[in-house]
Amino acid sequence: MVNLKIDGIEVEVPKDTMILKAAKDNRIDIPTLCNLEGLISYGGCRLCLVEISGSSKLFPACTTPVSPGMEITTNSNKLKEYRKMTIQLLLSERTHICSVCVANDHCELQSLANQLGVDHTIFERNWTKEEIDSTHDFLVIDRNRCILCTRCIRVCDEIEGVHTLDLRLRGKDAQIIMDMDNQWINSCSCTSCRKCSNVCPVGAIYIEGEPVSHTKKKDIVEFIKTRRNRK
Ligand code: SF4
Ligand code: SF4
Ligand code: FES
Repeated sequence: MVNLKIDGIEVEVPKDTMILKAAKDNRIDIPTLCNLEGLISYGGCRLCLVEISGSSKLFPACTTPVSPGMEITTNSNKLKEYRKMTIQLLLSERTHICSVCVANDHCELQSLANQLGVDHTIFERNWTKEEIDSTHDFLVIDRNRCILCTRCIRVCDEIEGVHTLDLRLRGKDAQIIMDMDNQWINSCSCTSCRKCSNVCPVGAIYIEGEPVSHTKKKDIVEFIKTRRNRK
């Protein structure tokens, strides 16, 4: 076991536990977007950054393991400002208009913006015109809303085991693609399992004609954890 302090509270957690899990298990909330329990952590969104005493760097809580004697701060003013900036950057990179979005009121990005008090962005907004693929029988991807969290890629690969989804290009130009950049209807690996739509935090992948509130089954995390434990 490892002993450390999170926000001044003494905690004891198993060796190799990530800071995010150590905090969660001790009822300390750290905001996340790309992380989803049961999937391998990716460390892409940088929302979960924390301070570690003795270092001037910030560390992603989802991919940094605990070590003995660590003193971690999860909620300083500096971190709050940093997180607000991150949300503003995400909102400005693609076309996010909550009032006309299928995920309005069921969007993790919107809910974090509300929680962190982000009601505008200081960055110039990109009104993107990325391709919307609605060729699948019932699944749709609107790449204009995608925040590149890669949850869909990881669930498709790690849980469904087919790796239909992947990324093309890099940085803010990256795009979710199916197979070798096929239209969804031509994908020969997709099993139509819907897991990607279940885990998408912003409704960029959704089920046509079905409200996102229905698509996002609350028990998806338990399902993913159970499937992973069975392997
Ligand atoms: S429906 Fe299932 S198999 Fe198809 S892309 Fe989504 S997660 Fe992968
Ligand atoms: S489609 Fe959704 S789950 Fe996939 S990377 Fe984009 S935002 Fe994340
Ligand atoms: S939740 Fe840790 S980097 Fe996204």
